[in-house]
Amino acid sequence: MVDKGIVLSGMRPTGKLHLGNLMGALNMWIKLQKEYSCFFMVADLHALTTDYGDTKEIRENIVQMVIDWLSVGIDPKNTVIFRQSEILEHSELCLLLSNITPLPWLFRNPTYKEQLKELKKEEIFTHGFLGYPVLQAADILLYKSKIVPVGIDQLPHLELTREIARRFNNLYKKVFPIPRQILTESPKLTGTDGRKMSKSYNNCIYISDDKESIIKKVKNMITDPARIRVSDKGHPDICSVFALFNNFPHHFAKYDIERECKEGKLPCVECKQWLYSSVLEDLKENYEKRLYYEKNKEEINKVLELGKEKALRIARKTMEEVKQAMQLA
Ligand code: TRP
Repeated sequence: MVDKGIVLSGMRPTGKLHLGNLMGALNMWIKLQKEYSCFFMVADLHALTTDYGDTKEIRENIVQMVIDWLSVGIDPKNTVIFRQSEILEHSELCLLLSNITPLPWLFRNPTYKEQLKELKKEEIFTHGFLGYPVLQAADILLYKSKIVPVGIDQLPHLELTREIARRFNNLYKKVFPIPRQILTESPKLTGTDGRKMSKSYNNCIYISDDKESIIKKVKNMITDPARIRVSDKGHPDICSVFALFNNFPHHFAKYDIERECKEGKLPCVECKQWLYSSVLEDLKENYEKRLYYEKNKEEINKVLELGKEKALRIARKTMEEVKQAMQLA
């Protein structure tokens, strides 16, 4: 097999994953793992940059996130799944890179500026939060990853990673390849209330929801409020079921639903049945695996243990090169 290099990506363990995560990042990961040597990381150190004050749930969040990954089809036999904090080299490389990263690069990072506005300023006015992209650069460069699947919101971090890598290579020695991103299409998935699907709106369908809750969530969705009788002409453009359905192009012939609804031929109840059957169909294979891992949680530790060994091997090798380049070894 031609060596195409390592693909690395990560997610912060901040809670259950929803359909938006599945259709965005996870589906891309599943595709990439067939072609590349993939390293998928539980970014628990990154979770601390914003949630440092409350770490009670981090352990369980990690387990649940890995169960989500495995049940939708991330294959631990071919793919390395590991926990960032268990590979100390991430922290070590982050520290070394922080010395060559000018502060203005970090202050002008758009995600930093946005989050400062959104979250309470004093809470994240920390060194760790400002340095978030330096840690992310360390994650990527430690594995000399050439390809990094990320959502569009992460592009500034990838750009910074490249700048940091170039600076390192120029200052010392060419150790790091310059990574490029693969954009995971994150469809702005609509939630059960018609707004963007997001944990903070409490409008998500989770990968871990059981069948009954998915059916219930869909049944409770609000459709076109002006449509009282089936024969009333519907307005799909303001209907949350239609909006969510739109994200399942592989299941529904949009034209027919749209037309039939507009002509007052398709009862909302039936439309909802189609929607939840499509969601359940997409998650079909997930249920059995999830059941297995829920019952055998020690398997998750085994997966992480195995991943740790594999990740460590590469991380150590890169750190040797880094230290030699910097005259530290
Ligand atoms: N910052 C990423 C996010 O919030 C998570 C992440 C951490 C990551 N380290 C990474 C993604 C390295 C890609 C590569 O989505």
